Amino acid sequence: MYTVPKLEDFSPAALDTAAADLLAALKAEAAAVENESAVEQFRIRWTARKNGIITQIVELWLKSAPAEAKRTVGARLNELKSEIENTVKVAKAVGLIREAVPGDIPGQIAFAKNAILKVERVDISLPGIVRPLGVRHPVLRTLDELISVFVKMGYSVAEGPEVETDYYNFEALNFPPNHPARDTQDTLFVSGQEQKAQRDRLLLRTHTSPVQIRTMENLKPPVRVICPGKVHRNDAPDATHSPVFHQLEGLCVDTNITFGDLKGTLDHAMKSMFGSAVKTSFRPSFFPFTEPSVEVSISCPFCGGKGCRPCKQSGWIELLGAGMVDPNVFGFVNYDAKKLSGFAFGMGVERLAMMTYNVDDIQQFFYGDMRFLEQFA
Ligand code: DAH
Repeated sequence: MYTVPKLEDFSPAALDTAAADLLAALKAEAAAVENESAVEQFRIRWTARKNGIITQIVELWLKSAPAEAKRTVGARLNELKSEIENTVKVAKAVGLIREAVPGDIPGQIAFAKNAILKVERVDISLPGIVRPLGVRHPVLRTLDELISVFVKMGYSVAEGPEVETDYYNFEALNFPPNHPARDTQDTLFVSGQEQKAQRDRLLLRTHTSPVQIRTMENLKPPVRVICPGKVHRNDAPDATHSPVFHQLEGLCVDTNITFGDLKGTLDHAMKSMFGSAVKTSFRPSFFPFTEPSVEVSISCPFCGGKGCRPCKQSGWIELLGAGMVDPNVFGFVNYDAKKLSGFAFGMGVERLAMMTYNVDDIQQFFYGDMRFLEQFA
């Protein structure tokens, strides 16, 4: 009975011989299959995961092949594997026929073999697989709409890495080491970086604001950019929080940029997104990288400000953070804080998408449930 030999020589000629021996054994054994139990033994001997001949040739030929021979041996094994699998299929059918119709009926068996191999080929008369056209995800759709609002105002788009250094994510944005403002943006750090200086340690960025710094390092003022992207927080998922979400950041730096420019820009953007009846409201807040900082709300687009469930009866919905760029931040990028001024803002894209499409659970965006997603088709 055939046993798979160990290979010492992996030259094409040696592989030819080994493959030919194996195929001869395969053929002979297939021809001897006469009934259902023999079919099963044959199948197990050649294709069983555990110690079947296919498994053995992987172990004895492929795994022990030297690195440079792995490709050719692998290709050869794939051929043998499909030959074995086909032979097992044919032998199975032939064995069943032999059991049902004993005696020598070579003509019929040959016919059956042919028929089986034909069926195995592609039947071009079968209906094809319908692959429905995809549509953009509602979060990306909202992001694209936002981008186009700002592009029309002369902004360009900048991107930065999702795995960011402590320096760009915090320090250059005026979050000094150990500053309590860092606690509001807890995230994952890449492990094994204890040897590195704190500013070089890698983390998953908690906001798109680091792209402000990267942009100012690369461009001379005036600057008008928006920075879309994915961000990460150590937040437990619930109806309004997700450990991964998207932001759109904006930065405008020039001479004589005032808080009035910030208000006008964001007011225009919110009206473009939610309709011209929407009002904006600016309330004092704190971010380390802006001074003064504001929290921006819009009048509730669902009830027009009268009070309803989405706006928690207040008539307003808080949507984004913004402010005038802190002069310390200009210091980190060698911008002249005496001559320049600027504003920045950052908003959560899922938040806006929830408003736009009246979605009450942020998790819906991430489940991948077709019943939800199909509504945007
Ligand atoms: N980065 C802030 C956050 O994730 C949002 C933000 C606030 C961005 C104010 C800004 C800004 O550019 O000026 O919470």
